[in-house]
Amino acid sequence: MLSVSGLNVFHANLHVVWDLSFHVDEGELVTLIGPNGAGKTTTVETIMGLNRHATGSIRFLGKDILGENAHAIFRKGLALVPEKREIFAKMPVYENLLLGTGGNDANLDRLDRIYALFPVLKERERQMAGTLSGGEQQMLAIGRALMSDPKLLILDEPSTGLSPLLVGQVFRSLEQLGREGMTVLLLEQNVRHALELCHRGYVLENGRIIKEGGAKELMHDPHIQKAYLGF
Ligand SMILES: Nc1ncnc2c1ncn2[C@@H]1O[C@H](COP(=O)(O)OP(=O)(O)OP(=O)(O)O)[C@@H](O)[C@H]1O
Ligand SMILES: [Mg+2]
Repeated sequence: MLSVSGLNVFHANLHVVWDLSFHVDEGELVTLIGPNGAGKTTTVETIMGLNRHATGSIRFLGKDILGENAHAIFRKGLALVPEKREIFAKMPVYENLLLGTGGNDANLDRLDRIYALFPVLKERERQMAGTLSGGEQQMLAIGRALMSDPKLLILDEPSTGLSPLLVGQVFRSLEQLGREGMTVLLLEQNVRHALELCHRGYVLENGRIIKEGGAKELMHDPHIQKAYLGF
């Protein structure tokens, strides 16, 4: 579904992502794991058309999308839950969700599905989004991305700033989405949760993929155990 090959990305003169290649097939949950500053956000911003200082190839559903603008990419069926969530604090929960349709009213009937996945959003639909807890705001950000009925959902560190209990809740909802057939690319520093959830993973360090493999295989890798899992 998504295939990135030989991708290099720059911030001004700074070369941040080096010769990156990875892919996500339909129905897969794939994680890109790596520490602070590894280049995770830079990579997804490039996929979403938000950074065009890049070379290489990004193919989505067989078409090269590198260089297209963000709106065109969104309309092809890619949705990003951004690292900073970017919800509108002074707007009610349901209005934040409606923004996610991207102006396509055909997607309005997805609201019920999102409320089924996150019942707390239904309970609080008229509440200002800024009054939600951190975990609820993350659920809202995921719900909003789902309103566009994406073919591929990309999440940039959904566990950031959440208590272990809430991280568990958010990951259970991602597991549910996976069971329903959603294709997911998850960027995480929370390596244990990411590898427990996903089928496959890539390890990104200093802008380069240094390892890739099945989630179980990565979980048993000595470098990953030492660097990320605290063994
Ligand atoms: N707008 C920018 N201008 C210049 N350098 C940037 C910019 N954004 C990111 N960088 C640099 O690019 C590198 C990769 O950053 P990026 O945000 O992609 O990492 P990340 O893996 O998402 O990290 P984190 O886990 O902290 O979110 C870092 O060295 C960062 O300082
Ligand atoms: Mg980041």
